[in-house]
Amino acid sequence: MSHLSRRQFIGAALGVGGVAMLPGLAFTATAQKAETPPTPAAIGSVLDKIKSQIEQWKAEGQQFKADPLDPENDEQWDRLVNYYFDRAAFSCISVNSANLCPSLKPVDQMMVMVQQMLGKDISFPMRGELAKASLGYGLGAVKDWFGLGSSDVKADFLLALVANSTEGNNFINNGLVTSGFLDPQKDNIVVWDVNHPTNYDAWMFRKATQKWGKNSIRTLQTKMFSQTVTAEERQKGMIPSDPQSEDDILLPLKALVDSRTKMATLSWQSNECGMLLPMDRIVHELRSVNKNIYIHADGAQTFGVLDLKLGKVDVDSMTGSFHKWPCGPKMVGIIYMNNKTGAAEKFAPSIWGYDEYINTPGDYGFDAAAGKIDPNAKRFSYLGQQNDATLVSTWMAALFHTGNFHPNVTPARIEARIHYLGDQAKNALYEHLPKIFPEFTPKTAYKWIATPTTNDTFRSSVFLFKTPDGIQAGDVMQHVYEQHKFAIANLKVKGHDLLRISPTFCNTSQDVHDVVAAIIDVIKAMKNNKLANNTHLRSYA
Ligand SMILES: Cc1ncc(COP(=O)(O)O)c(C=O)c1O
Repeated sequence: MSHLSRRQFIGAALGVGGVAMLPGLAFTATAQKAETPPTPAAIGSVLDKIKSQIEQWKAEGQQFKADPLDPENDEQWDRLVNYYFDRAAFSCISVNSANLCPSLKPVDQMMVMVQQMLGKDISFPMRGELAKASLGYGLGAVKDWFGLGSSDVKADFLLALVANSTEGNNFINNGLVTSGFLDPQKDNIVVWDVNHPTNYDAWMFRKATQKWGKNSIRTLQTKMFSQTVTAEERQKGMIPSDPQSEDDILLPLKALVDSRTKMATLSWQSNECGMLLPMDRIVHELRSVNKNIYIHADGAQTFGVLDLKLGKVDVDSMTGSFHKWPCGPKMVGIIYMNNKTGAAEKFAPSIWGYDEYINTPGDYGFDAAAGKIDPNAKRFSYLGQQNDATLVSTWMAALFHTGNFHPNVTPARIEARIHYLGDQAKNALYEHLPKIFPEFTPKTAYKWIATPTTNDTFRSSVFLFKTPDGIQAGDVMQHVYEQHKFAIANLKVKGHDLLRISPTFCNTSQDVHDVVAAIIDVIKAMKNNKLANNTHLRSYA
């Protein structure tokens, strides 16, 4: 079917009586059923059902309106946790938000509701309504969540739903040569050595396979378990893992940037060392060295963590995943493109398909044969058939984070609560680590804890730390899961075998203290040969 004839088909299907012409009823199981087919949903009714469910959740949430949710008020946050997560049904408590989180109940329930709707009806009229829910209302709510509500640019011009941060990051690292933005023989880009592989190795892979110049990639390096670097190291672009000031980060970074630096691409918060970068200052200072530098923030560890305020923090693009900190639906992510800087046009998307409305770029007036595609974030949303249930549920995550369900939830309160849980993680580590590292002191914590501990503004709640010599972090992770029913992570970072805990608002303060106690318990048992070592050598990012 050509795109024109398909559009005519969709137009007819969306019109009055369109539903009646749809095939499919002949496939019902029995002849008797075929004679009395279920009545197709009336146009608009699916969206109405979704909206009325939302209204119900909003009304139910009013019972919590007297809870202001101050970060340290465990009683109020525990009430929230128990209301939005079915902890009684969990066979394991996740303290691993940097990887994956349980979904909020409204997210899960909307998933089921939409799946059931799709089980009955996968017609174009039905799917058109679901697309309106996700790309229309859903992205609109995400726009508010990101502090972009006052922008008069349409939400889907700023934001695209993608599979995950992996896909978003790869749109970036795979798209800028084809577009002509980067000349890899003459220009350079800056990456950070503790970026996620999708924003580090992926660049090295492009360089190796697309024959980029020798100096096309410059690396900001991290001196692990250190508070200082030498003047020479700083000049070469090295930062200590426990910076004492913003300058400890800014000066080495600026030393790598020159007039041919087209892009700096950094984890806003690193999953590998827990450092939270002062992104606002980075953007200003790098642009003062080179006003055209493009800044990509990998927000996998900041989306659903920070009150992002993207209208103010002027990054060119950001990626994130709903299934991590926001406790949204699984396998859906977001890419933000700053329209003020014309960010999207610098990338030729590697996927050319159609969107949730079953429209190609051609349907929006961009001629494929002439190499045209939307100049905004929408160019990244032509991904073909996707799971409508997942996409619609992103709207529920955004409604939760903007206080539409639980009245006093705001992105700022979520940020403060997560930071507070990070305080709890730090306190618990300070209390328990001396039991396995007798030399440990709070002043020298940086020798064992990779996450910045001197200056609390350089972290939220991603904590990475060492295990004693000879104790495999992978085994600790496995035993903590089997013996204590906590999900944590183990990672190899620059030759160090590390454990990671990363609590978010779905955790209680008690979880944080209990998981650290469980880790110490397991390590002691391993040291006493009561639990096996050297069995689980795989590590995770
Ligand atoms: C900084 C960072 N970027 C990207 C990713 C990839 O995220 P996803 O698995 O959701 O694609 C991760 C995952 O841990 C990450 O930590």
